[in-house]
Amino acid sequence: MKYFNIITLLAVTFIIFCMRTAGKIVKGKYFDRFFLIIFENTDYVTAVNDPYLSDLTNRQDGILLSNFFAVEHPSEPNYIAQIYGSTLGILDDADYNVTGKNLVDLLEDKGISWKAYMENYPGNCYQYSFGPSNDSYARKHNPFISMVNIHDDPVRCAKIVNASQLDMDISTNSVPQFAYYTPNQDNDAHDTNLTFAMTWFKGWFEPKLQDPAFTTNTLFFITFDESESKGEPNQIFSSLLGTPVQPNVNHNDDTYYTHFSIAKTIEENWDLHDLGRNDTTATPFTKFLIS
Ligand SMILES: *[C@@H]1O[C@H](CO)[C@@H](O)[C@H](O)[C@H]1NC(C)=O
Ligand SMILES: *[C@@H]1O[C@H](CO)[C@@H](O)[C@H](O)[C@H]1NC(C)=O
Ligand SMILES: *[C@@H]1O[C@H](CO)[C@@H](O)[C@H](O)[C@H]1NC(C)=O
Ligand SMILES: *[C@@H]1O[C@H](CO)[C@@H](O)[C@H](O)[C@H]1NC(C)=O
Ligand SMILES: *[C@@H]1O[C@H](CO)[C@@H](O)[C@H](O)[C@H]1NC(C)=O
Repeated sequence: MKYFNIITLLAVTFIIFCMRTAGKIVKGKYFDRFFLIIFENTDYVTAVNDPYLSDLTNRQDGILLSNFFAVEHPSEPNYIAQIYGSTLGILDDADYNVTGKNLVDLLEDKGISWKAYMENYPGNCYQYSFGPSNDSYARKHNPFISMVNIHDDPVRCAKIVNASQLDMDISTNSVPQFAYYTPNQDNDAHDTNLTFAMTWFKGWFEPKLQDPAFTTNTLFFITFDESESKGEPNQIFSSLLGTPVQPNVNHNDDTYYTHFSIAKTIEENWDLHDLGRNDTTATPFTKFLIS
């Protein structure tokens, strides 16, 4: 009996240890992982005619969101809106320290893992506007670093990583359930053009799409920050790809969506609380997802 109890105790301890270290998956209503990739400054009409983007939306598990709008000009307020549910009235690309809860708080409340992959990010909770030699990393395209409750918390801030970490995370099957990927200012079209960016994107994306550690139950969300044309209507290209998408739906969802729809979609998928801002009234892009 005594030995039996010791063995039981050891077994229970071992199981608890495994549960804590194995990075448990929180099942979602539509998807188990959300992977966002964001590009820059392109009008809807330009992007929708890009050969690679139209190839992606026309795949069996692809869908174009043909009525999707950015919320402001220039870049930064759009990035802030995605994870904060409000632009806070920001109308420039300056450095801000934003207080109050954001999407990361909602995710962590439910134990959902997250990471922000930033190309050319120097790491170590780097605070400056551009990379050390003004290279292609830009803080204005990294909304996470503007959140005070992320940059003041070393554990959280360590989840903003250099994008080169992604290949390691795929190889160890540890891509988080919420992943946000910002290419550098060449690869995202900011300092180049869409042809350059999509050549990069295709070379980056296609090999990864062959790997289940990247794709399993993953909803890929491909978007832009704002239209190139300043002012209204600020319509941008956005699309969905992955097994959570219903096949054969003519590859077009013309529901009105905005950057605020991103937080709403994630909240609905994992039954999270909300931010109490413009996310609450936004429409989630779940119409053609399999539940
Ligand atoms: C978001 O919501 C607030 C108040 O609910 C509002 O003042 C603001 O104009 C909305 N829009 C943006 C783009 O943040
Ligand atoms: C934001 O906070 C950091 C300290 O965490 C400080 O160094 C920086 O000056 C602040 N930036 C602004 C724009 O207030
Ligand atoms: C950061 O990522 C870039 C590519 O995104 C890579 O060239 C660079 O070596 C990485 N730097 C560090 C410190 O990991
Ligand atoms: C980077 O750019 C900023 C703003 O244009 C400038 O103030 C700074 O001196 C530059 N730093 C380097 C290392 O070139
Ligand atoms: C885009 O940039 C490339 C150089 O990277 C250039 O060869 C090409 O002509 C540009 N395309 C347009 C439409 O400006």
